[in-house]
Amino acid sequence: NAIINLILPLIVLFQIQTCKSDINREDFPKGFTFGTASSAFQVEGAVREDGRGPSIWDTFSHTFGKIADFSNADVAVDHYHRIEEDIQIMKDLGVDAYRFSISWSRIFPRIEPYVTIYHWDLPQALHDKYLGWLSDKIINDFANYAETLFQKFGDRVKQWITFNEPQAFTIQGYDTALHAPGRCSILRLCKAGNSSTEPYIVAHNVLRSHATVADIYKRKYKKVQGGSLGVAFNVIWYENATNSQKDIDAAQRAQDFQLGWFLDPLMFGDYPSSMRTRVGDRLPKFSEAESALLKGSLDFVGINHYTTFYARDNYTNFLGIILHDAVSDSGTITLPFKGLKSIGERANSIWLYIVPQGMRSLMNYINKKYGNPPVVITENGMDDPNGPFTSIRDAVKDEKRIRYLNGYLSALRDSIKDGCNVKGYFVWSILDNWEWSAGYSSRFGLYYVDYKNKLKRYPKDSVEWFKKFLKAKK
Ligand code: NOJ
Repeated sequence: NAIINLILPLIVLFQIQTCKSDINREDFPKGFTFGTASSAFQVEGAVREDGRGPSIWDTFSHTFGKIADFSNADVAVDHYHRIEEDIQIMKDLGVDAYRFSISWSRIFPRIEPYVTIYHWDLPQALHDKYLGWLSDKIINDFANYAETLFQKFGDRVKQWITFNEPQAFTIQGYDTALHAPGRCSILRLCKAGNSSTEPYIVAHNVLRSHATVADIYKRKYKKVQGGSLGVAFNVIWYENATNSQKDIDAAQRAQDFQLGWFLDPLMFGDYPSSMRTRVGDRLPKFSEAESALLKGSLDFVGINHYTTFYARDNYTNFLGIILHDAVSDSGTITLPFKGLKSIGERANSIWLYIVPQGMRSLMNYINKKYGNPPVVITENGMDDPNGPFTSIRDAVKDEKRIRYLNGYLSALRDSIKDGCNVKGYFVWSILDNWEWSAGYSSRFGLYYVDYKNKLKRYPKDSVEWFKKFLKAKK
């Protein structure tokens, strides 16, 4: 036993060392930003303090059966009260920046803030009043909220992200009902909703809200404050499952219905043509003035990238005929395996596969399709399930996460060598936190949070790895 105790840590140390030598920040261009990312609802807790009102996620997480482990985020990881301790560990880690969101329903260095204006916690009052994102009344309210932030914080905040993962909250909130406000078609036993139309209406209002805010920022604040505005898009990379033209087209359609749905209007002024063809009249139209406002309203493209799936033409579209929803409208089935062959090493979580090459393909795709805009990787990371751990010492051994980060950062560096205009990279997340409908059962942190003992933070092995990565000279 004594020998094992002595040798095991040496092996782990050796593994960390080996990974370390693969890549470090010197491999990235001068001025490249490294950070960690989080969102208010997932980490803050303190949901009834200092005048905060409820958001749709408070309601949803307190609805029986919505969260895997029956938890809620009333306390989360108590970031609200422990902000100094948590900023200190980021400083120790050696990151340059911290991406966090401001809680709309709460309405506020050396680490530069990248502020997300909307990371899913819509004030419940606006959903009750006019159904939130389903109404174009939201555009004005969102613009007021964003402008308040520009006025209050614009002197210090220079990097704004208007929306986090618009496609994800549109689909999960109004199609599959896995996220707040949990609407979907009656066929799926939802109280209210229409999965074949609502996602498109929501997306349309989100895009118009972004364009309105970008216009306000450009006209009234940009000159004085000198900041930049982006959106953080959720992007799985889709690899065609076979080389048949059908599957190649299917992979493109899957991307059109994910990234293109939002980025095409922001770059070219309209939705992808494959969406127009397949969604028809259910896809709203932009007026000329709206198209003009949308085009060029992004200073940078934020990308939340975690994994790669295969895409295959959905020949029969059987589910689509029955359910008629936005997910099946693309006519594509996306899966992390074909037959028995999986797309890459499986992470410890339910849905993530480790496919670093997907990062490089995605960066090159954006370069080519959208004319090489500045890109910031606003999220990348890997989760572990909440146990079973025998001890905290066991829980902080995250050799797979080190391999994941090492692989994805290497692929990112390669894409920069290919000529892609990538400006920054944020790990999701500094701390384990409340993972939406998975509750506390999924742990994305570089730091382990002990939910059973005063929410104490423990560095996982990846902290040491990332610290060394960041310590290399800029
Ligand atoms: C997507 C979301 O932006 C974030 O809130 C979530 O926790 C991570 N990615 C991991 O799923």
